[in-house]
Amino acid sequence: MRVLIIGASGFVGSRLQAAFLGNCVGTYCTHAVPGLHPLDVRDADAVRRFIADLTPNLIFHPAAQAHVDWCETHVSESFEVNVRGVRNVAQAAREVGARYVYFSSDYVFNGAAGPYAEGATPDPLNVYGRHKLEAESIIVKCLDNHLIVRVCGVYGYQRDGKNFVMSLLDRGRRGELMNVPCDQWGTPTYADNLAAVVKELALSIHRGVFHVVGPECMDRMAFARLACAVFGLDPGFLRPCGTEELRQAAPRPLRGGLVAAKVGALLAIPLLGPHQGLELMKRQMVREDLTQ
Ligand SMILES: NC(=O)c1ccc[n+]([C@@H]2O[C@H](COP(=O)([O-])OP(=O)(O)OC[C@H]3O[C@@H](n4cnc5c(N)ncnc54)[C@H](OP(=O)(O)O)[C@@H]3O)[C@@H](O)[C@H]2O)c1
Repeated sequence: MRVLIIGASGFVGSRLQAAFLGNCVGTYCTHAVPGLHPLDVRDADAVRRFIADLTPNLIFHPAAQAHVDWCETHVSESFEVNVRGVRNVAQAAREVGARYVYFSSDYVFNGAAGPYAEGATPDPLNVYGRHKLEAESIIVKCLDNHLIVRVCGVYGYQRDGKNFVMSLLDRGRRGELMNVPCDQWGTPTYADNLAAVVKELALSIHRGVFHVVGPECMDRMAFARLACAVFGLDPGFLRPCGTEELRQAAPRPLRGGLVAAKVGALLAIPLLGPHQGLELMKRQMVREDLTQ
């Protein structure tokens, strides 16, 4: 089986690559990584040529412009990557008969009444969420053999990483104050667990929309305190605040998060809660001597 990961230089893409033990082809766009191929999903011809040459059986697409506030102020640039780019890959996947696995987000929901199961009606609040939803509907129309995997609050070890826990560890060790919203709820998801579950799902016969997230819905402050407890940090640098105070460009779904209602019953690999995920992350960092 030939497996292609578009966006293997990113956080989720790199964990997927690890889940396949490197037995896959991966791409980067702006952050060159040895062994990965350059590919910009905005370039339809390049995407078609690359996929026609490789003829993968399975394509993962975690590539995205995932900076939510940037998307809010750069609508056409976000559209090019997050909508047109997805159409380019989905069409190329259809042409070679590949199975297509796209990564979407809990931000397709409005955060009035989360956590949301797969059957809930999307109603995005911001540009990023609207573009993710538009991409989903393009995929549904373009090819049958697809998975749309919605994720939320992914954390884990990431070299030079900016995910919530990596930022928290960085701030905490430097004793820098960190504003953490108490009114944003989500379902923290351990990246390596996400990759293992999505791999299993991709290799199954299932199609359609799946939520793949940790089983506990919690607010960011509660998760931050838990991370401090696991990593042995004094939580004094955490400053609880409201989302409004952060003056972010894009509105956030507050009561967000997802329920992995479908995947739990289908697969052998369990979805890990935040305590287990953080412990595994810490163990990995201790192994690689990265906790100092
Ligand atoms: N992380 C989360 O908590 C979270 C939550 C909800 C949904 N998601 C979704 O999950 C997916 C993966 O997120 P992530 O955290 O791994 O994001 P990430 O770390 O920002 O990685 C994004 C990837 O997309 C690539 N990329 C960006 N623009 C591209 C372009 N024009 N052409 C080709 N590749 C391009 C990047 O390549 P370069 O870096 O080489 O440019 C990188 O490999 C995204 O679809 C995101 O929307 C993530």
